Amino acid sequence: MLTLTQSISEKIKKAFRDAGYDESFGQVTISNRPDLCEFQCNGALMAAKQYHKAPIAIANEVAAKIEDGYFASIEVAAPGFINLKIADQSLLSYAKGMFEDEKFGFEPQGAGRKVIIDYGGANVAKPLHVGHLRPAIIGESIKRILSFDGYDAIGDVHLGDWGLQIGLIITELKRRQPDLPYYDDSFTGDYPKEAPFTIADLEEIYPYASKYSKTDDAYREEAKHATKLLQDGHRGYRAIWQHILDVSIEDLKKNYDNLNVHFELWKKESDANAYIPEIIEDLKAKGLAKIDEGALVVDVKEETDTKEMPPCILQKSDGAFLYASTDVATIYERKKLFDPAWIIYVVDKRQGLHFDQVFRTCKKGGLITDSTKLTFLGNGTMNGEGGKPFKTRDGDVLRLEFLIKSIVDKVAERMADSDIPADEKKKICDMVGLAAIKYGDLSNQATKDYIFDIDRFTAFEGNTGPYILYTLVRIKSLLQKLGVDESFDCGEALGSQKGVSESEKKLWLALSGFPDAVRKAADEIAPHKICTFIYEAADAFNSFYHDNRIISQEDAQIKNRWIALLKLVLGVVEKCVDMLGIKVPDRM
Ligand code: ARG
Repeated sequence: MLTLTQSISEKIKKAFRDAGYDESFGQVTISNRPDLCEFQCNGALMAAKQYHKAPIAIANEVAAKIEDGYFASIEVAAPGFINLKIADQSLLSYAKGMFEDEKFGFEPQGAGRKVIIDYGGANVAKPLHVGHLRPAIIGESIKRILSFDGYDAIGDVHLGDWGLQIGLIITELKRRQPDLPYYDDSFTGDYPKEAPFTIADLEEIYPYASKYSKTDDAYREEAKHATKLLQDGHRGYRAIWQHILDVSIEDLKKNYDNLNVHFELWKKESDANAYIPEIIEDLKAKGLAKIDEGALVVDVKEETDTKEMPPCILQKSDGAFLYASTDVATIYERKKLFDPAWIIYVVDKRQGLHFDQVFRTCKKGGLITDSTKLTFLGNGTMNGEGGKPFKTRDGDVLRLEFLIKSIVDKVAERMADSDIPADEKKKICDMVGLAAIKYGDLSNQATKDYIFDIDRFTAFEGNTGPYILYTLVRIKSLLQKLGVDESFDCGEALGSQKGVSESEKKLWLALSGFPDAVRKAADEIAPHKICTFIYEAADAFNSFYHDNRIISQEDAQIKNRWIALLKLVLGVVEKCVDMLGIKVPDRM
């Protein structure tokens, strides 16, 4: 099914053709002067150059050829705009098509293509902190949008499980419990099934060891050495590492679940490790990987570079592999296991150079071909008041749980007067709090920094998550009061265009923009485009609701059409909200 702007464009293109001009000038867009018209075509201005004619003359000729009846008004405005208003009947018939379509008129384009979205980036043994929030929220939303677009969309958490943090824990644990069998090289039996620590222990051990290693060089060297032994396969250290994974992953799953963020794959950096030696051999054989000051590097500079582009380091002089080696190997592994058409990374934008180096290494080395597109979507920073990074009072990074709690508490404060029973209210506050965070985040362009403003994000009015949920809850309750059930025939209700008011028409128009909005969001991997659509729809609904007494409407034809309208707002906006990873409560 065509989008509304597409089907209007078809009509204007035909008029250009019939008037003797190239039809490509007939492209129509949503008007940027809603006070004058709903849609506009600026093609005559462009055609003027090609046909050496006054644009207004072309516009007039074209306007005269436009099919009668479909539009409520067709006006030509100087210097050559064609301004259009659609007839109520045409708009309602488009809406009918939306109802009949499973995706409300959206044409998916990703079928048969696999996309992997790498957006977790959590590290085992370390709690999620505020820096993990944006990739999780944005990545989950992109996955949902692309999946709606027909892609086989796979989210991968890509856990950091292979770095110095594990060596630090091994070292610190040894200092505290030197008698554990993992440290006894002569031990050949089975190691205990139970981990010698809980998640709470780990959360204390890691920060302690990390801080301490900065004051004690020998300790830090020991941790590095332990990391190397682990990577080389030390039996006892591998066993500790496995305990860390088990304990940590269980906890991370719980935390991501609470965020309504779900991964299809729980792959780890270490999973790619096995491929590194063969990749290195291959890159050496191709003459791409070379020794430079003892390290093995790939030169990834290109002639057109305007910024500095250091080589990609694959192996340090002591033989250790690095973050880049792992990411190169992960791309290789993904190609091998999934052969995806597209890999998208949602990672802090400060890692942009790293991904430039990694992507170039993979392309130069032929580890990936043109059939796999690589995209780095670097997210901006979420800052606290005054635009400063979020920190605890001691200057540490803020744990995600605390941030979430602060916003849920604020929502609870705002809902203090409601008479909903305490249990249910708590669940609602959790949902609304999360919506406040997610919507506050996603309504900003992913690449931009923004300020996390608790007061603004939790407000029940304005462009906020709670406002959107409140609107949806209001519609649900209206439909309930109206006694509408599944058997209600929306198509039939749209048969009459009796008494369509201005606010009603605006709402139908807003909703008809759904397929275009989702198309843009998917093509530009930009969830904020969905937010813009949601806000416009919610706003149009609230004006309509303010202007019309729905429940007491006596004319059955009008009332039924309004019911259909409510159902379309609910269906479309709920779908959008779902693409943002936001859940809607039944009441609030
Ligand atoms: N674990 C990393 C970090 O904390 C982020 C991982 C992002 N994904 C990737 N493929 N490198 O910075």
